Amino acid sequence: MQSSLVSVAKALRQARHVFVLTGAGISAESGVPTFRDAQTGLWAKYDPLQLATPGAFERDPSLVWKWYSWRRELVSAIDPNPAHYALANLVECVPELTLVTQNVDGLHQRAGSPAVSEFHGNLFTNICWRDGSTQVLAANDIEIPPICPDCGSMLRPGVVWFGEAIKSDVLDNSFNRAAACDVFISIGTSSLVHPASALFEAAIGNDATIIEVNPEITPMSKAADFVLRGKAGTILPELLDLLAVED
Ligand code: OAD
Repeated sequence: MQSSLVSVAKALRQARHVFVLTGAGISAESGVPTFRDAQTGLWAKYDPLQLATPGAFERDPSLVWKWYSWRRELVSAIDPNPAHYALANLVECVPELTLVTQNVDGLHQRAGSPAVSEFHGNLFTNICWRDGSTQVLAANDIEIPPICPDCGSMLRPGVVWFGEAIKSDVLDNSFNRAAACDVFISIGTSSLVHPASALFEAAIGNDATIIEVNPEITPMSKAADFVLRGKAGTILPELLDLLAVED
């Protein structure tokens, strides 16, 4: 067991407000490809700028919709892993927990986390291309992409694309809570994509203890008080076991 695991458990037991930011790495052990892992990554096969942008959807809505349908099928066929379940249990161990995920796979919710802020939206929601309103797909709609029941425009996946802004309420709430936490844990993210990658700086502004869980070094590693080098599916259950023992 990593010695810092005991120190991290101690920091969590003394924490008032824990802020957790997750990225694709926490879903890797469920079988969801991450974005930047070479070869196996989601984008090894596709050029994201051909698919995950408003311009790509405008140019070829059918191709983009089919790519997201493929991702929906992929994610629907897999399950949360021990890391997701450990986080769902963490909410019982600390006075206040904020969970913000960059992932759009909905696995935190399926693992039982009660309050999940989806910084980049959710793969399984559909929004109107014209006004961004959330829409329910008509059961008999076989169009590709489907048509908005309200206005007849196209429907698109409710995810944030390159070049699009994070919803202002999600952005403000995430930064306010990061600035108020006393322990910040970054799990399974390359810390490369702004503005999510700046959340830990708001926590540092509040003298929070910074923890990173990742098998690889990231731009955030040097700012961390504790780095747990390894897989989330191994580390997080061990951490929760330690918290339970001390309880
Ligand atoms: P990345 O694919 O950029 O990074 C995944 C991170 O997870 C890497 O640092 C890996 O080392 C780490 N990792 C891999 N397996 C792991 C495991 N078992 N346990 C813990 N960590 C592991 O994915 P993100 O950082 O989430 O944005 O990417 C951020 C954003 O970039 C995504 O949300 C997406 C993309 O543009 C949008 O779609 C808007």
